[in-house]
Order: sequence, then structure tokens, then C-alpha cells
Amino acid sequence: MCGIIGYIGKDNSVNHLIEGLRALEYRGYDSAGIAFFDTKQKLNTVKAAGRLANVEAMMQITPESHCGIGHTRWATHGAPDDINAHPHGTPSLRLVHNGIVENYAALKEELTALGYTFESETDTEVAAKLLDYYYVKEKLTARAAIERMTSRLVGSWALGILFADDPGTVWAARQGSPLIIGKGENEHYIASDITAILSRTRDYYQLDEGEIAKVTRSSAEIWKDSKPVNKELKVAHWDIEAAERGGYPHFMIKEINEEPTAIRTTLHSRIKDGLPDFSGDGFDTSVLGEISRMHIIACGTAMHAGLVAKGLLNSLAKLPCEVEIASEFRYNDPIVGKGDLVLIISQSGETADSLAALRLAKKKGAATLAIVNVIGSSIAREADSVLYTMAGPEIAVASTKAYSVQTALLYLLSVEAGLVRGRLSREDAAKRVSELYNRAPEAVAEMIAREKEIETVANKISGCEDLFFIGRGADYHLAAEGSLKLKEISYIHSEAYAAGELKHGTISLVTPGVPVVALCTVPDLYEKMVSNIRETKARGAETFMICGADTEVAEGTADHIIRLPEISPELAFLPEVCALQLFAYHAAAARGCDIDKPRNLAKSVTVE
Ligand code: M6R
Repeated sequence: MCGIIGYIGKDNSVNHLIEGLRALEYRGYDSAGIAFFDTKQKLNTVKAAGRLANVEAMMQITPESHCGIGHTRWATHGAPDDINAHPHGTPSLRLVHNGIVENYAALKEELTALGYTFESETDTEVAAKLLDYYYVKEKLTARAAIERMTSRLVGSWALGILFADDPGTVWAARQGSPLIIGKGENEHYIASDITAILSRTRDYYQLDEGEIAKVTRSSAEIWKDSKPVNKELKVAHWDIEAAERGGYPHFMIKEINEEPTAIRTTLHSRIKDGLPDFSGDGFDTSVLGEISRMHIIACGTAMHAGLVAKGLLNSLAKLPCEVEIASEFRYNDPIVGKGDLVLIISQSGETADSLAALRLAKKKGAATLAIVNVIGSSIAREADSVLYTMAGPEIAVASTKAYSVQTALLYLLSVEAGLVRGRLSREDAAKRVSELYNRAPEAVAEMIAREKEIETVANKISGCEDLFFIGRGADYHLAAEGSLKLKEISYIHSEAYAAGELKHGTISLVTPGVPVVALCTVPDLYEKMVSNIRETKARGAETFMICGADTEVAEGTADHIIRLPEISPELAFLPEVCALQLFAYHAAAARGCDIDKPRNLAKSVTVE
């Protein structure tokens, strides 16, 4: 998703803009650009399709500048080319934008009638020219012009703005897309998120919905509805090393390696006397005993974590639970309201569909809870209660450690629900919590230690173009996540199937040599899975099995076997997902893919 950076201060702004944009690359982008004042206070723009290096190459030497804005664009309106790249503007101003202006076509018509012409296909250029209209033609002050302009927009935006006649100021505005203001010594930044400025400062102000900010070297003034807003200066606790690769070839593998620690860190403060304790989160768990149904709403990998939770809430707490894709939930007139708890799961806390689903659930009167990784993100701030996962920054587009901490936390929450609903004794609960906290992170570490073994297996499928993951029960949900991971980074087409469903149509695609990965960690369903593996083998499939440490596998059942470390089947999902992540990672590496930034994808999906 698009990234914004801005700088005003004593240093060379161009260096800071490029450095900030590089740190935001993980969000995904297909063009980039900067606008800056040079030493003659002239406003310059440099932008190009493709990687940030193309922008750098256009400036033979780094220009001297102390104020500028920059942008990485993930195309929504118009192709990812030089012209559609941001910044956009007029001789009087430059503007960068993250989000979507939904009514841009009507505004464009209106501005065309007023004599404006457009060179790009973007909604952003429309916003820039609308601002020009209020600033230049209507002669409003900068702040009044931004207020007027944003009041006309429908949609979402985070904006960074420079006015040509004020080289000492960066303006910012936010509605629906994240933006922060970083405070350094006699310098300020604006940024889409903290990773862009972490190497320079940890102090920041969070911009909230509808706010406009004026940022100079020495001050950051913020208004909402034309009234000044006093903001608390926050301190980011993520360290810069955590946002860098730390010697690993890719962020994805670094983040997989961080899973054992991230799981422990997420659980640590939520276990007291061996039992779950969410009091530190301010979450009153008695609600788990009062509700008749839980709805888990999320997208992608976070939704797959929700599917694991559905099974756990059912088995440990007998709590009925629906899991829905956020983009479906919001338009399906969902039957949800008082008496329901809606749980939103999101790593970024900014996913547009998940945020909209949260707002809808609140409007319908449901109690809301969020599981979020990014502190202070929109979903975290708007839910009634929030449980933060403590995975640290997840930079790779493919979500790995975020899923592990989400599912570990959801397990703890399910145990708590079991206690509150009288379905688990304290002894049962304590046994489970102990294995979750003491054994599961170790088991994940042991899985990681067998990376080479998984690499060897992954190399066997790296040349294929179609593959099946099959599973039953909890393994079916793991299959969905394994399949998504493989698709998104290796571009190998794969399907996740409930193993029993294969013969109802899809088995026609299983021909000699097609790989089938069978997840067989649920003891009660093991024999059924073996029958399904046989069905695929009979059609010539190359079969891969993932099973428990002690599972007795008869000779010839599968062509390749990966055994999980010792762990009870109820918690097998943690080492199992780790194996699937490593499998996808090495398949993608063998194919030479751009693992951390897969094509067409963005880390944080802040548009519908
Ligand atoms: O930030 P979120 O957890 O809300 O993101 C949801 C999905 O966009 C995300 O999990 C996506 O599916 C990942 N790229 C998968 O690896």
C-alpha cells in the first residue's frame, strides 16, 4: 500500500525522504516520487515508475534541501507509470496521497469546467487541483484551503502537502489512512508508520481521523474541525534492529525465526498463577460467558487464524463461532447485534475491510474486541477492547509470525472462554496453558532447526505449477494457510481442500506427478486422511505428509514425510504452520522469487 514520508529540519531532506521511503518499501509499491524545496526555495518534483532506485538515478547528485515530501505508490487509479506516480500538483503546490478519493470523477468534471486540465489518471491529481482551486483561486489560507478541499472528498486519505510559497512548512491530513508526525531535534517528519522514521526518532504524535497538521522545524500544530488539538507525544518501543533484516537473506525468514520469542512475549503478561489473565488488557472476560455467539472477522492470513480459533472455541468452550471474510461480512447485511461479540483480527490494524466491518458491528450494537499487532492503529483504537500481539514489526508481505502469535493468543483466549463458560476445570486449563507457554515455543524452535530438511522437500515441488493441500478438521484450516503462503510468494498455483471433498470434483485435476501435501496431525482423523492420500496416489500424485512426532505411518503411505516435534495434537498448529511457512519460503527461494515483496501485493491493504 502507498507510503508517505515528509521532512523539515536542519538535515538534507532528500536523504531522509529516500531513507524513509526505503523503510516503507515493505508496504508494497510500484512507483515512487519526491517533491522538495531546493536552496533557491524552488519546488522540484522527481518521480518514476518502478523501484525507488529509479528516482535516485534521476538525481545525479543529491540536491541540497531541507524540506520535502515523498511517496511510494501502489496503483489503484491508473497504471503504475511515471505520470501517475506521486507527487501531483500545480505550480503552487505538491501533494502525496494514500487512500482512495471515491468521488474523484464528479470532482474532476467540476474542475474541468473551471478550466483545470489533468495529465494523470489518478484520483490524487483531482485532490491536488481541488486544493489549488481553494488556495489560488479562492485565496483561502493554507489550512482553510485544506479544510475546504478535504470536506469535499469522499473516501479515505492520508495527505502530505507542500505549498510553493511556504518552503518552511509541511502540511498533513488524515481520514481513514494512517499518518503520524515524528518529532526530532529541531526537525519534524510525517510518515505512514513508525518504521519510516525509527532510525531518526522514536517520538511521535498520532494523527486521528479528520485532523489537519502544520509541521515546521520547531512545531507541530494540529486541528480538528478548525479547533486546535493537544496531542500526547508517544514513544515507539520497536527498535531499529527489529525493523531491519538482522543478517537474514529475507525479512520473511527472519520473522519465522522470531516466532518462538514472539509467542512467549505475547503470552507472558497474560498468564497469572498458571491461568489466563487478561486484566492487564482491560478486557473483562466475563463477556465470554454472556454472549450467545462470537463472530470473527478478518482478511487473508488473519482470517485463517480465526478459523483455527473457531475450532478451539468450539472444543474448549462450546462457544458457537462464525468466521467471516471482512469484505463479505460488510456487504451481507450480517445478523449481528446485542449479545454478540465481534472479534476483528488484523496484524496491521489498518486493513480497510476489517476496519469497516468493525464499524458496522459497532453500529449494530455488538460488543467488539480486536487482536492487533500495530499499537495505536485504527482498529486498535476503535474496538471496545484490544489485545495486542507482541510480534514486533512484520515487514515481509507474507504474514508469518503475526499468524503464530494470533493463534497462540486465540488459544489462550479459548482456554479462558472454557473456564468462564464452565467447560474446563482449573486443572485442565492450567495444563493447557503450561504446554502453550512452555512447550509450544520450543516445538516451533525445533521445527525451525529442521529447516534444511524442509528445504529439501520444498525443492522437490519448486518446478511444479499446481499443487494441492488437503486436511481434515484443524488441518483443513492449516491447509488454507499453507496454500495462501505458497501462492503469494512462489506463484505456484495451489488449492486447499477438505480431504473428504476432493472426490466430489477436484480429484479430476490430480494426474501423474501432481504434488499433494496431506496434513495428518489430528489423531482421530488420521485413518481417513490415509484413505484420501491413497486416492490421490492411485491417480499418480506425488504425496507429502505432515504428521505428529509419534504417528505410526505404514510403509509406503506417502512419498515424503515431515514429522512435527513432540506436542499435543491440540497445539500442533504452531509447529505445523511454521513447517508450511518454511516450505513456501524455500519453494519461492528455489524459484528465485522476490520473497519479501511479491508481485501485485501490499503489506497493508488500506483500500477496499
Ligand atoms: O494486516 P492484516 O492482518 O489485517 O492483513 C490481512 C491480510 O491482508 C494479510 O494477512 C495477507 O493475507 C497476507 N499477505 C498473507 O500473508
